[in-house]
Amino acid sequence: MTERARQPERLDDLTVSGPELERTLHELSRLNAWLGNAKAVVRAVRTAVGDAQEVHIVDVGCGAGDVLQALGEALCLDGRTVRLTGFDGNPSTVAFAQAQLPSATFQVADVMDPDFRIPTCDVMVSSHFLYHLSDEEAAEFITRNTPLVRREIVVSELVRSRLANLGFSCLSMALRTSPWVRADGHLAIQRAWTQAELQAAMAGVPGASVHRMGLFRQLLRVVGTLPT
Ligand SMILES: C[S@@+](CC[C@H](N)C(=O)[O-])C[C@H]1O[C@@H](n2cnc3c(N)ncnc32)[C@H](O)[C@@H]1O
Repeated sequence: MTERARQPERLDDLTVSGPELERTLHELSRLNAWLGNAKAVVRAVRTAVGDAQEVHIVDVGCGAGDVLQALGEALCLDGRTVRLTGFDGNPSTVAFAQAQLPSATFQVADVMDPDFRIPTCDVMVSSHFLYHLSDEEAAEFITRNTPLVRREIVVSELVRSRLANLGFSCLSMALRTSPWVRADGHLAIQRAWTQAELQAAMAGVPGASVHRMGLFRQLLRVVGTLPT
């Protein structure tokens, strides 16, 4: 655990499909809700959008779309008009997310492709996705998309530590998560940055700051540069 692991997870195979994938996506949504990930992103996005009445949120590596759904519900409760767009590289995951949240637009895209650009938006979010990239790729990915964002980029990531790994073992036993979620969850923790590593990786990105959250989580926030 002294360095970030590099092995891919099963969910990184963008061709997987079927009932086992759907169960995994359901379980990840449950974990996002129970472990406060969705709430942390909602809080940060509410601060980022201020008093804007019309808000477009883009989620990259959106998985089941549950974080977008939580954002949509919270921002609509505020009385705002909300547009939600999710990108994921797995067509089956995109179909699953679209069925869960028909009011949003989900699209299949390899967001790591150097030619990929998000549509202009108020906030770009991502949750448990950026750790798929190296330090250099992550800084480049953020820098490339910042000019398309009016308010902020909000990235929710795990913090790598032995304690997080141990905690996840206990949690996955208690919740009886599937072997797929257990294996991918451990790998995700092992591939994550420590807070100091993420700060160092983002040192050259203007407007970036890293905030430690509870339950082995950190938020990267980057000020958007597209005029409001
Ligand atoms: C660990 S899951 C996180 C899903 C969701 N954001 C969450 O918080 O539960 C990572 C997601 O990134 C997607 N993904 C991996 N590589 C991708 C790529 N190159 N382009 C787009 N999506 C990708 C996977 O299909 C998967 O849905």
